[in-house]
Order: sequence, then structure tokens, then C-alpha cells
Amino acid sequence: MGKAALITGVNGQDGSYLAEFLLEKEYRVHGLIRRSSVDTKERIAHLVGQPGFELITGDVTDATGVHRIIRRIQPDEVYNLAAQSHVGVSFDAPVATFAADAVGPLNILEAIRTESPHTRFYQASTSELFGSSQPPQNENTPMIPRSPYAVAKLAAHSLVRLYREAYGLFACAGILYNHESERRGEEFVTRKITKYVARLAGAMKNSAGTPPLDWPKLALGNLDAKRDWSFCGDMVRGMWLMLQQDQPDDFVLASGESHSVREFLELAFRPLGLDYRDFVRTDPSLFRPAEVDHLCGDAAKAREVLGWEPRVSFEELVTRMVESDVARERDRHGLRCAS
Ligand code: GDD
Repeated sequence: MGKAALITGVNGQDGSYLAEFLLEKEYRVHGLIRRSSVDTKERIAHLVGQPGFELITGDVTDATGVHRIIRRIQPDEVYNLAAQSHVGVSFDAPVATFAADAVGPLNILEAIRTESPHTRFYQASTSELFGSSQPPQNENTPMIPRSPYAVAKLAAHSLVRLYREAYGLFACAGILYNHESERRGEEFVTRKITKYVARLAGAMKNSAGTPPLDWPKLALGNLDAKRDWSFCGDMVRGMWLMLQQDQPDDFVLASGESHSVREFLELAFRPLGLDYRDFVRTDPSLFRPAEVDHLCGDAAKAREVLGWEPRVSFEELVTRMVESDVARERDRHGLRCAS
């Protein structure tokens, strides 16, 4: 029988790719999902009902529930991907962010320590930990968080190390730089852009190939921030590799290239032959109270120890996200016409 894994946040972007990856490796995958009155299973709809895939309702902030689940499953591996993952939102909801992103992982570590100490644990740490540290950043770069989100993630990151050193748990933190895909949430800047481009492309088809005159502009915040963007599918392979090593450790996963939001816009608008500057307006309310200006990761350790490297380039990533949103837009429009 294959290994058993528990993925928290299984219905998120990363959870859905990781679940697919582990099912292909013949794991039994238990996915933790929060109850909601609306359907939040869109990204995993194709997995529901597959042999080896089970959904469990629960919440990482509920300590007793987490203990009960870990005691029952005795998983070989736990991947903690559940989080309030939007940096901007964390300024508006700092306490809820801290509960999900710091207390949540602590509940899991405690449950593993007391109920299932053989379980290997992966924590989704983030390049946001580096905050204002100059690039390129690696595992030894000072962590100077710049948001409630990053502070909460730093608490969790420190707990992973503590539980490794104090209790000998096999606990690893993956310090992941931005990672995107066609399943990225629409409130993150990349998807916000690709969705807008797809809508504009659809509108141009019905308007003799030119943008409609009254077409609304896309409201964005800081266009000068630089990020190190990778494809999510490449990242989940790295998460798994961390838990297959002889010794637990923390690793940066990154492409080693950084691009500004402006560069992302240029590439996304290129297929339309349009200048993004004619379609974007800056909205002061979308600027963050404190910004992380420049993230660029040095993943040398992951390359050497894990043999990991990203396979999808920045250009390919932008192209696949735009193409996917264009296809969705076509389907949406087709359905509207048919009904
Ligand atoms: N979301 C958003 N919306 N960001 C905008 C916008 C906008 O309208 N306009 C400009 N930005 C800028 C943000 O200020 C930030 O500098 C950059 O675009 C990227 O923002 P996000 O896509 O929201 O991602 P993030 O870098 O803040 O955080 C993501 O990556 C982290 C890893 O580095 C998230 O996935 C985090 O959960 C993750 O830890």
C-alpha cells in the first residue's frame, strides 16, 4: 500500500497540484478543507471520487480537530498549505491571519509531536519572510518581514526549526518565491492581469479587432515591485523532494530571475499588440502600507541537495496563464450565447 499524506488547504492552487502529484505517486491523499456554504472545490473537482482521494472537513485553527485527524490517519507526510495567503489582506485582517498562518501550523506540530511523531511535516514558508533584505536571498539571509502575513509566517518558520531541534521531528520549511498557474486566485496580481487581458481580447473580437472605446481600465497598485515568479507545478515537486531526504532541512525554491509587475503586464498584453499603459490605472487603495520591493531567490541549495530546478520559464508561465484565461472567456461567452 502507498504512503498516506494529509494536505491542508487542498482546494487551493498549491494543494490541487500537490494532490495530483501525490496521487500519481500512488499516495492515499487526505485533503483538509474548511466548511463553506459556497462551493470551494473547483480546483479539485476532477479529483473528488478518485480512488485514494478523501476530503476531510476541518480547520487548522481548531486544535482538537487537528489532533483527532492526525491521531486517526497517522499520515506518513503532512503538507501544511492552509493559510490566509494574501499579503494585502493581512493588513486588514491581522489577527485572523495570525491564527491561520502561525497558530494553525503550531496546532499541527503539536498534534504530530503527541499523536504521530513518525509523521514528516512540510510547512509552506515564503520569500515574504525576507521582506526588506536585499536580493538575492538564500536560507541564511536575514528575515525582516514587512506585513502581518510575513510576521505570522516567520513565527511558523521558527516553530518548524524549534520542533526539529527540540523534539527531533522531521519538519521542513519550503521558502517558496511567488508561484502561479492558471489556477491562481483572481485577487493576486498575475491572474488579475491575465483575466483582464482575456476579457479585453474577447471584447476586441466583437469590435472589429480594436478595443471598445468605453472599455474600463484595470486598477492596480504598485507596478514597480519585483518578484521571482515560477510555475506552481514545479514548486510542488520541490515540496515532496524535501520530505524524501535523509535529514530534515529548510530550502529556498525560486527561479533566480526577477521581473517587475510592469514586465508581467508587457508580456501579457503582447499577444493583443497593445500597450498596457493605455489600459492600466493606478489605484492608491491597492498600495500596501509596507511593500516588499524586490524578491529574487538563490535556490543553489535545493539544486545541489534535492536536484530540484524549475522547468517552466517566466515567458511560458505568462503565456499559459493568458491562454487559459482566453479559453475560459471563450467558453463563458459560448455558454452565454447558447443559453
Ligand atoms: N494582489 C495585488 N493586486 N498585487 C498588486 C496589485 C493588485 O492590484 N497591484 C500591484 N500589486 C503588487 C503587490 O503590491 C506586490 O508587490 C506584487 O504585485 C505581487 O502581489 P501578489 O500577487 O498579491 O503576491 P505577493 O508577492 O504579495 O504574495 C504572493 O507570493 C508570496 C511569496 O513570495 C502570495 O502567494 C503569498 O502567499 C506568497 O507567500
